[in-house]
Amino acid sequence: MNYNFDEIIPRKGTNCVKHDALLHFFGTDDLLPMWVADMDFRSPDFVIDALRKRCDHEVLGYATAPDSYWEAVTNWLQNHFHITADRHELHFIPGIVAGIAFVLQAMTHPGDGILVTTPVYPPFLDLPQNSHRQLVCSPLKVVDGRFSIDFDDLEWRAHQCRWLILSNPHNPGGTVWDRDTLARIADICYRNNVNVIADEIHADLTLPGHNHTSFSTVSDNARDISITFIAPSKTFNIAGLSSSVCYCPNEQLRQRFFGYLDGYEVANGNIFAYVGAEAAYRHGEEWLRQMLEYLQGNIECLRTFLAERMPKVKAVLPEASYLAWLDFSDLGLEHDDIRQRLIHRAHVALNDGTTFGGNDYRCCFRINLGCPRATLLDALERIAACLPK
Ligand SMILES: Cc1ncc(COP(=O)(O)O)c(C=O)c1O
Repeated sequence: MNYNFDEIIPRKGTNCVKHDALLHFFGTDDLLPMWVADMDFRSPDFVIDALRKRCDHEVLGYATAPDSYWEAVTNWLQNHFHITADRHELHFIPGIVAGIAFVLQAMTHPGDGILVTTPVYPPFLDLPQNSHRQLVCSPLKVVDGRFSIDFDDLEWRAHQCRWLILSNPHNPGGTVWDRDTLARIADICYRNNVNVIADEIHADLTLPGHNHTSFSTVSDNARDISITFIAPSKTFNIAGLSSSVCYCPNEQLRQRFFGYLDGYEVANGNIFAYVGAEAAYRHGEEWLRQMLEYLQGNIECLRTFLAERMPKVKAVLPEASYLAWLDFSDLGLEHDDIRQRLIHRAHVALNDGTTFGGNDYRCCFRINLGCPRATLLDALERIAACLPK
């Protein structure tokens, strides 16, 4: 079957954050939404069919995860992450942001240092601060158009911290961390008694020509100090099902973390979370292959457009997933000016760089490429037209 990712599906009025929360976040809703990280593609037919079939039963009581769900999860982990997981090393999690919040609650104390590499997905900054932990930021560098870790800085900051929250691959910008990089991070963390949350939500979207390495697989130490989160939500555009999984091979960490999840009963799934995830993991390979091919086309489209029409805008283009990081610094405009132009002249909603780590990123914005190519081109034309020549 050939999937059609060119189709423009109206989403306004479906209570989706990306289209229906524009007024709240931008003060106006006449914007082309290129912000929130879900895709404007139809969720796969085999997921929708499975959800429909479950609805046909017409009794929607409390749900339990069937063995067939866990079989689909463990097969996916084996095939895509090279992780051989025992069932008892896995736990359902109703969303990865919630999972990270649970780790902070269960495994840290107020005042503990939580290390992140900036710019980064905003909840990595908000969750530690909102739970009165001490946020410690190690800025990434941009080298040859991709993010790179400043290991000296990371090492220096690690000794003040208890946990590192790592986006692997990275959001924003989609940088794929290679095995050496992850091994060095693991080594620094191990030596400094820092545990690692490896958020691998974007891993399945690693693009052709790149390889995902799961953090826990790089060394015994990495395996011992980490809790890994995976999910079908970005992969198959089913984030609204709030379905993800945690892998924790270290027994001590696991007893404490899973003990918290079970003791407080915060990590139960709903019927659709199990049904949708199982269908996605069981039947998703071909859809994912075609979708990644399409995304690759969108990334090339952005690369060409920037080179030809916006040469002063520098970009970190994704090696995984559909989020690109645009840096407008060379235009010589202030943050507010760029923002106003994007919102009120281009009528495009991008994520503001400052929310990924503060003022250092005031001239940067994140664009979501997970949309039909015509939508992307429309957004790029609008952005080009609102900037000085
Ligand atoms: C790195 C990262 N982690 C987690 C999430 C959200 O995960 P969830 O919807 O499962 O809470 C996102 C969404 O953009 C993300 O980019």
